[in-house]
Amino acid sequence: MAEKIRKIAVLTSGGDAPGMNAAIRASVRHADSNGLAVCGFRRGYCGILEDDYVPLDRRSVSNIVGAGGTFLMTDRSPEFNLPEGRQKAAEVLRSHDVDALIVIGGDGSLRGALDLYNDTGIPVVGIPGTIDNDLAYTDFTLGFDTAVNTVLWAINSLRDTMNSHNKVTFVEVMGRRCGDIALHAGLSGGAEYILVPEVPFDLRTIADDILGSVKLGKKSNLIVVAEGAGKMEDLCREFAEYTGLTPRQTRLGFIQRGGSPTYRDRLLACRFGIRAVDLLLAGKGGYAVGVRGTEIIEMPIAEAVAMKKTIDLDLYRQASSLI
Ligand code: F6P
Repeated sequence: MAEKIRKIAVLTSGGDAPGMNAAIRASVRHADSNGLAVCGFRRGYCGILEDDYVPLDRRSVSNIVGAGGTFLMTDRSPEFNLPEGRQKAAEVLRSHDVDALIVIGGDGSLRGALDLYNDTGIPVVGIPGTIDNDLAYTDFTLGFDTAVNTVLWAINSLRDTMNSHNKVTFVEVMGRRCGDIALHAGLSGGAEYILVPEVPFDLRTIADDILGSVKLGKKSNLIVVAEGAGKMEDLCREFAEYTGLTPRQTRLGFIQRGGSPTYRDRLLACRFGIRAVDLLLAGKGGYAVGVRGTEIIEMPIAEAVAMKKTIDLDLYRQASSLI
């Protein structure tokens, strides 16, 4: 029989993502509604190791549901990756009478949560928070929808100026080794080509095709490049060599990580936070929450992070047929 928990801690870890604040708020308030004390640590696992403790209650998470970033701040901690680091973290957590932890972050953060749970037995639940959507066990990660909408906004603006100048434009989007941001934003933004790391492409064929359409009078040609698909500068140089055209290059960069979360991300954040607390109340540690279809799901973190992320090839083919 798992011991009854009285106090939980919340932290955000890895790259920030829109919706993290809303997930902290939901965790804090649902915990409080169930009689639990709550606290936070700033800057992810670094904050535990440096005892950067923040007392939290219902009021301390007021007015953050629509705020981008994470008010608890976030970081990546090499020390926590070592067993000694995790033992130290457990001591700090125990010194504050913390019985359980909610970690909001991406793949590396969930792996860290699993290691802490395995090494120390402290119940930990993970909430997937990353714009990359690179976790296979969940249909969507927190922040992805907002990031895609940010990219769409940028694509719309680029189209305006491309149409005015007859320009080919390469737009580089984030995603690490995952092409989901590029695919979803490219498809819904009407990109002519979408380059993702998961699907091989032949730039020569693409260049020939675009040159042909330019000659026929097509005013704008937009190529969305996932950062994992290749260096945009190299792709543009090769493209220019093949076509004699000088493409514009736009790297959207960190604006994709900011901004007020969309309705979809806020809803996910609320539902993830509630389920995470419910799991801890039920004595279940070592789990990650996620979403499949419209259902909030839970899965042992070990299984969740072992699943291999693949791109939705059907969607990719559909995008190609709409050019
Ligand atoms: O994981 C989120 C992400 O924004 C990736 O898309 C990107 O590759 C990376 O983080 C950038 O990381 P950093 O914040 O360390 O520069």
